[in-house]
Amino acid sequence: MRIDIITVLPELLQSPFAASIMKRAQTKGHLELHVHNLRDFSDDKHRNVDDYQYGGGAGMVMSVGPISKAIEYLLAARSYDEIIYMTPDGAILDQNSCNQLSLAQNIIILCGHYKGVDQRIRDLYITKEISIGSYVLSGGELAAAIVIDAVVRLIPGVLNDETSALTDSFQDGLLAPPVYTRPPEFKGLKVPEVLLGGNPKEVEAWREEQALLRTKERRPDLLGD
Ligand code: 6GU
Repeated sequence: MRIDIITVLPELLQSPFAASIMKRAQTKGHLELHVHNLRDFSDDKHRNVDDYQYGGGAGMVMSVGPISKAIEYLLAARSYDEIIYMTPDGAILDQNSCNQLSLAQNIIILCGHYKGVDQRIRDLYITKEISIGSYVLSGGELAAAIVIDAVVRLIPGVLNDETSALTDSFQDGLLAPPVYTRPPEFKGLKVPEVLLGGNPKEVEAWREEQALLRTKERRPDLLGD
């Protein structure tokens, strides 16, 4: 998968991809990440990318010129499955949308800032608008990093143990069950007997029961009626 990110803060998007699974996804060739500084597409001598909003009011708006130039520069080189705009008024990200996005070949992610982008950019180019939750961040960069992490780990071959993404919380609509490792007893708390017993069928049944219990307690909204 190739991901092109358009941002005014390229430095915010370095470290999340420089370690662990996201780094390995790139070295193994599963992920090609290109971070573009929106200011490089500004015609302004001060490299400005925003302006006052029509109608008045506090806060700047990201201008059409540089964003349109950046997107068209990318579109001239290849086609894209999605052009995503990161914005608090987008659709809230969930595992379903991550699964879908993991099938894409090329995507562009535009990070919003200030009061957001001129509506005409959204009307002309954007195919998907994503929020990561009901709270406001200073910009779309950290949200974009979260989307990319959640999506890239689903690309076949990115995780060492291919089955491990399948047993994640949410992947089957349930939260994940509790997990334990050695020692068998710690500060008086024992690992559940069934996990030590070596019966895979019983372990599986216990995990399903615990996943359901945990989901009922913590996220009843996931269970519907
Ligand atoms: Cl995508 N951007 C910003 N600025 N705030 C957010 C968000 C995005 N998602 C939740 N809050």
